[in-house]
Amino acid sequence: MIRMPDTAKIAISNQKGGVGKTTVAINIAGALNRLEHNVLFIDLDPQGNATEGLGLEEEYEAQPPTLFDALTDHKAREDIDSLIVSHSEMDVLPSNIDMTSIEPELTMAMRGRERLEQVIDSLNAEYDVIIIDCPPYLGNLTDNALLTAGNVLIPALAESTSKRALEILFDQIEVLEAEYDTHIRDLGVVANRIETTNEAKSMLAWFEEAFSDIPVWEIRKRVTLQRAFSAGCSVFEFEEECDMSAEFLAIAEDLERRFGLVEVTA
Ligand SMILES: Nc1ncnc2c1ncn2[C@@H]1O[C@H](COP(=O)(O)OP(=O)(O)OP(=O)(O)O)[C@@H](O)[C@H]1O
Ligand SMILES: [Mg+2]
Repeated sequence: MIRMPDTAKIAISNQKGGVGKTTVAINIAGALNRLEHNVLFIDLDPQGNATEGLGLEEEYEAQPPTLFDALTDHKAREDIDSLIVSHSEMDVLPSNIDMTSIEPELTMAMRGRERLEQVIDSLNAEYDVIIIDCPPYLGNLTDNALLTAGNVLIPALAESTSKRALEILFDQIEVLEAEYDTHIRDLGVVANRIETTNEAKSMLAWFEEAFSDIPVWEIRKRVTLQRAFSAGCSVFEFEEECDMSAEFLAIAEDLERRFGLVEVTA
């Protein structure tokens, strides 16, 4: 008998802007695809960087119904599968320009922080992993991602400003856990865009000490990561080799182990 594990849902989150959420999310999705997992990528950021980065600009400009409608209207949610687009490495639930006005809508909505969970529950397609790229602020969208995933992976720059950013994120997670009587598991920190500076070195030591019980992965600053993004794919599909592929694969293998993503024959 083959036992299929539940879908692993992972929010890639840090309300600080430009720390590499989208880059890390796309490359982890690419690594999981390389390990033959069926991945759904949800671009929950109204900026739509991942949607654009994955070559889906038209979806970002598309007329309703879009992800905005699926999150705000239960009737549109029923047809959620029709909003999914396929990319060579993953399926994508794209963001849309309408998402820029969703925060007040979700504040007013009944169960406004549980809408993404309802959307995911309405999917007919089955996935091994759902990766959610979060926006660069704390608000209803990020709360939705954290609550439905129950798991968070945090990209952070190896700069001292990251300390405060992480403090603010953990405060929010604590509030959500208390108010929704749930647990949001911290899967690890991805120290990103690391350069050879003293500040980076001392911050990496700080990450190791502050997060001694969870993994701290290290992604260095590499122009190939930017080029792969511009080419609309992860480094695993990109034509140039990138020495950071191994670290993204290590993250994917760790997730695979922790979520029991390998099919178990009993
Ligand atoms: N390891 C890296 N090496 C080189 N460039 C990187 C790396 N990680 C991210 N970048 C670049 O840094 C910029 C910000 O990255 P990215 O868009 O992934 O961050 P983000 O946290 O998603 O941003 P936002 O908060 O706006 O959503 C992009 O131009 C990206 O190409
Ligand atoms: Mg982003």
